[in-house]
Amino acid sequence: MRIGILVGGGDAPGLNAAIKAAVTKANELGYDTIGIKNGWAGLLETDARSISIDDVEEIHSRGGVILYTSRTNPFKIPNGPQKVIQNMKKLKINALIVMGGEDTLGVAQKLHETGVPVVGVPKTIDNDLSGTDYSIGFDTAVAIATDAIDRLRTTAEAHHRIIIVEVMGRNTGWIALYAGLAGGANMTLIPEVPLGLNQVYRLLKQRQANGKAYSIIAVAEGAKLLKEKEQLIVASEEKDEFGHPRLGGISRVLEDLIEKNTGLEVRSMILGHLQRGGSPTAFDRILAIRLATKAVELVKEKKFGQMASFQACDIVSVPLKKVMTGRKSVPTELYEMAKTFFK
Ligand code: F6P
Repeated sequence: MRIGILVGGGDAPGLNAAIKAAVTKANELGYDTIGIKNGWAGLLETDARSISIDDVEEIHSRGGVILYTSRTNPFKIPNGPQKVIQNMKKLKINALIVMGGEDTLGVAQKLHETGVPVVGVPKTIDNDLSGTDYSIGFDTAVAIATDAIDRLRTTAEAHHRIIIVEVMGRNTGWIALYAGLAGGANMTLIPEVPLGLNQVYRLLKQRQANGKAYSIIAVAEGAKLLKEKEQLIVASEEKDEFGHPRLGGISRVLEDLIEKNTGLEVRSMILGHLQRGGSPTAFDRILAIRLATKAVELVKEKKFGQMASFQACDIVSVPLKKVMTGRKSVPTELYEMAKTFFK
């Protein structure tokens, strides 16, 4: 048995721990492992190298991903899927473990439908994959964003300012909600709940009237402004191979609007890729180890077309097809609970 390991989409802290676990478990079972470089691009070009247990011994605590990654979509390239299948044969790969979010695992599922033996591992700091409570990278991103909020609070307070902290979260507000709650943000704006700006102005003025001269607002990059129509703020209209524009900048737009409409002094900060960099938390390492070990077990059992998943503290498996039926949004009840702290 020769297992190919591939990582696609944005990197996430914990991926190297997952690679270490997959290689270690495969080694225990007597399987070979080959690392595909740069996501699906590596299978379009046969850019791969075999990975031994020695290669991975030290990598569990490292950020980034030793195999590199890309947002390449083989279904956007003429004969892309056929090339992937041919190159898997050339590399003598009998099974593929694919670590990714909705785009990468969407490709894995489509390939599986044509008979490719794949198993998925959920990875996205956005935590919006269905079928799993947590995805690799989310916990670290939340820890980084929470630390940022704690630090920004002290400078906001010292200057009697409003500080808006923009976190990642293209379609869902998991990072914003968790970091906002953990960091005691005075208001959190998420894509799932378009919020009227008047509510924001009212809260900030109310706090001012109550003698709280500073406030912290957490906002997900994909949060929408309620105007004539829901408006998404993009940093670039240019779309990636999966059709996503580059987000970023809603905090700047809010900064101007709040200053104009309340007369308060406002600053904003986009945390951006800081949330994806550096060492994973212990939680993300353990999650990655457990999920990747399960992925190798699924290969052993020939349960292809499945994703290893974390549900209620257990590691189980779910069909990739089911994962692809829709995103996991922040539940209304959770956001309603968080609203209790919008003060
Ligand atoms: O992978 C998810 C994500 O981190 C989103 O939160 C964000 O919008 C996007 O990736 C950024 O992508 P890139 O690294 O390509 O700028």
